[in-house]
Amino acid sequence: MRWACLVGGTGSNLRALINDGAPIRLVISHKAGVGALEIARAAGIPQVVLPARQYPVREEYDAALLRILGEAGIEALVLAGFLRLLSDRVVDTYAGRAVNVHPSLLPAFPGLHAVRQALEYGVRVTGVSVHLVDRGLDSGPIIFQEAVSVRPDDTDETLSSRIHAVEHRLLPRAVRLLDAHRLEVQGRQVVIREE
Ligand code: GRF
Repeated sequence: MRWACLVGGTGSNLRALINDGAPIRLVISHKAGVGALEIARAAGIPQVVLPARQYPVREEYDAALLRILGEAGIEALVLAGFLRLLSDRVVDTYAGRAVNVHPSLLPAFPGLHAVRQALEYGVRVTGVSVHLVDRGLDSGPIIFQEAVSVRPDDTDETLSSRIHAVEHRLLPRAVRLLDAHRLEVQGRQVVIREE
């Protein structure tokens, strides 16, 4: 399938996907000047910056997003640091073909600053969730989860770096499986079909 990667940050997950050979044909960022765009450029992947302030109304933003995705013939989405909630229209267009990575064991700590939320709560274990995108906030059916222990002296930075290492392993695996049509959704469960 032709994939687009939606970003907005340093792009370490985009890099992991590219290194894994994921068929990323387009990178869309909600923010200019971020590391992810530099990674796309170096890899020769076309990129589009779609800043929120350009389209203050969410529906207009997502109409522009859908148009760009449609023109590029994009069939599947991988969200990696795209800090905007997609409207129902986008979610429905890519239902079952959109993957997100989130730095916590969902349903704990959805939304922004999940690592900080976990540290502030004082949990001993947090982790990574890779899930299909549905209409809610970080609420879609889970493909992979892996725990990461919190150390007593952890900072946002040290914990994030161990979480990232897990993300870089799990996200490309999920994209590979979905690309090969090996993920089947049965209610809340995602079943991995054997080859
Ligand atoms: C990752 O921690 C991901 O879980 C979250 O945003 C971060 C993106 O990091 N959704 P990067 O830009 O891929 O380095």
